[in-house]
Amino acid sequence: MYKAVRGTQDILPQDAPYWRHLETTIHELCARYGYHRLEPPLFEETSLFVRGVGEATDIVEKEMYSFTDRGGRELTLRPEFTAGVMRGYIEHNMHTWPRPVKLYSVGPAFRYEAPQAGRYRQFHQVNVEAIGEQDPAVDLEIMSVAWDLYEALGSKGLSFQLNSTGCPACRPVYIKHLVAYYEQHRDEICKECKRRLQRNPLRVLDCKVETCQPIIEGAPRMREHLCGECAKHFETLLGYLDLLGRSYTLNHRLVRGLDYYTKTVFEVWAEEGLGAQNAVCGGGRYDGLIEELGGPPTPGVGFAAGLERIILAMKAQGTAVPELVAPQLLVAHRGTEAKTRAVTLTSELRTAGIGALLAFGQRSLRSQMKQANRANVRFTLILGEDELAAGEVTVRDMAAGEQQRVSLAEIEDWLKRRL
Ligand code: HAM
Repeated sequence: MYKAVRGTQDILPQDAPYWRHLETTIHELCARYGYHRLEPPLFEETSLFVRGVGEATDIVEKEMYSFTDRGGRELTLRPEFTAGVMRGYIEHNMHTWPRPVKLYSVGPAFRYEAPQAGRYRQFHQVNVEAIGEQDPAVDLEIMSVAWDLYEALGSKGLSFQLNSTGCPACRPVYIKHLVAYYEQHRDEICKECKRRLQRNPLRVLDCKVETCQPIIEGAPRMREHLCGECAKHFETLLGYLDLLGRSYTLNHRLVRGLDYYTKTVFEVWAEEGLGAQNAVCGGGRYDGLIEELGGPPTPGVGFAAGLERIILAMKAQGTAVPELVAPQLLVAHRGTEAKTRAVTLTSELRTAGIGALLAFGQRSLRSQMKQANRANVRFTLILGEDELAAGEVTVRDMAAGEQQRVSLAEIEDWLKRRL
């Protein structure tokens, strides 16, 4: 028996209303903010992610689905969108477009992570990027898109975690302080933190090991080491957030798992329903990324939200979603000739934009009525010898239990008036 590969899952029909509602909300919201859709390919050159996401990140070190294709190219299934979107920005000369260039994408991403509730090896993201502006008002806009998305979905119990990770001018100075502090605590920290100090020191702040917690609390804080420009950027953003009454939690430990961030970083955490995998969204500013990938120096800011996690949270909170539109009528038939007419009538109705089901096989009328009941249709159209001879169809109103004859020539209009 084949099963879906570990960490992957089928999106089943019963979950379709959640996906449809979420996707519709995303497209409407992005349109309202003036974001345009850019869908990068599912796979890119491996080196794009190595350079973009960063060699010393978990994603690049151990989570990428990389392969060599038949032409000898080194390729990787996208573990995230930002690197691919920036490659597209550079490739299509979007620096000549009016700024900021505002782009969004929705689709699957792939990471070889240990699967658990809310963490999969194939998952979906909505990814939103604003490219070409340094203004903290753009950081605010990006955060607001995330905010409005959750508000439109009726999400409760969310907290916005916010931090600044500085820039190439101030971060190295901060890291020096951090490493010097950690050197004094070398004997108290976990093995993984010792490794992080070598490879990617900022990540020590992210450690979940119990014994490392007091060390993190006592560690020097980035906020106190920001350069003038980064401090001003952060203060201005906080001012805007306060002005709009958006509440947030300043979190000095928030460093994010991708290397491209500068200045603002943020995550949205769900307080209930998701357990350990509680980040429904993460993002921030990446002012050096486009240059790193070979483009002109260009700032940018964006976020991505995990769709499976949002749906898990919606289910946990009992969020109601609109039902999907289903056909409201079934065409039933008695006899071979009537069946043939039923086939053409069903096709004519669908062409006219009326959703219709056809009863398959040659079952008894009773059994076709049962099928209509199960499909929860409003009308059953019955064709038999009598009806064919008269050029009519019997229409049964399923709820009222009443029947009437309607001319086949008029049935489309008759239905359109009622559906
Ligand atoms: P990220 O924090 O790695 O950021 O992922 C964003 C969101 O994707 C997470 O908050 C989570 O909801 C979801 N997610 C990540 N990994 C998984 C997984 N294995 N299973 C289920 N959901 C997952 C990025 O990807 C950045 N590219 C975001 C960004 C865009 N920054 C700037 N622009």
